[in-house]
Amino acid sequence: MIVIETIPDMTYFRLNLKEPVGFVPTMGYLHEGHMSLVRKAREENKSVVVSIYINPTQFGPKEDLSKYPRNLARDLAMLEKESADVVFFPADKEIYPTGYETWVTVDNLTKPLEGDSRPTHFRGVTTIVTKLFNIVRPTNAYFGQKDAQQALIIKKMTTDLNMNLKVVVCPTIREPDGLAMSSRNVYLSMEQRKAAPVLYKSLLLAKDMFAIGERNAAVILEQMTVFIQKEPLAKIEYISISDTETLAELKAIKKSALVSMSVRFGNTRLIDNIILGKSTKSEYLNK
Ligand code: PAJ
Repeated sequence: MIVIETIPDMTYFRLNLKEPVGFVPTMGYLHEGHMSLVRKAREENKSVVVSIYINPTQFGPKEDLSKYPRNLARDLAMLEKESADVVFFPADKEIYPTGYETWVTVDNLTKPLEGDSRPTHFRGVTTIVTKLFNIVRPTNAYFGQKDAQQALIIKKMTTDLNMNLKVVVCPTIREPDGLAMSSRNVYLSMEQRKAAPVLYKSLLLAKDMFAIGERNAAVILEQMTVFIQKEPLAKIEYISISDTETLAELKAIKKSALVSMSVRFGNTRLIDNIILGKSTKSEYLNK
């Protein structure tokens, strides 16, 4: 495994990578969720590139950029174990040199849900992902269902801008108690950590209601809200039942729906989601 820190080195090394090239963009502090993407990339490609870059432009002014967790030595050991070929680990000045002023934006999919709470977040994500795609030029790129809106936006961007690669969306990996793995889980106090599985439990409640025939989104949302509110440490930011492609809020669920939420525990914001009406195994976004 080689660690590359500059764009010219990455460009040069890319010339000799065996095709197809699988790419997993991350912000580091890796966990099993990230590693599931790396394994999938390893299965499906001759070469695997993983990037570790805490992208400043996707953090809002009041967000956790400076204290975002990092542990490069541990990340590298984990990637070595999974036989990644290249770790691209660029510095800020490499990615956003003085005078940088170009942005990639997806108009509508970025507005609801996460976009409502984090108005500049997705502009940062689509810009860095485009730059990384241009530098790494992958055949296949791997993203997690955990960030369902991000995956959908990146798929839309690659289609709209005729980017020559395939976006693969992989299932959410969870702790044994159901909490979706996230680098941000380390911010939780012991009490908050104990309470945090309430997100997934409320998603399972929605799933059960849907399974016995409930199709009224307001009824499901009401039950979920009551359930989460029983947990005093949890403060709901949003809960939504939306169309899996347009993210428009649904009144009645027809074939399928994305149930997604953001819940705060103190200063820590956790997100989670589930798809109703399609097998989670089939990774609904990989159409
Ligand atoms: P990061 O939060 O590090 O996540 C990197 C990738 O891992 C994303 O595709 C995310 O959806 C996936 N992931 C995170 N937790 C997961 C879990 N529990 N199960 C499955 N996949 C999981 O997302 C980002 O970084 C950034 O926005 C990035 C795309 C790298 C752009 O900066």
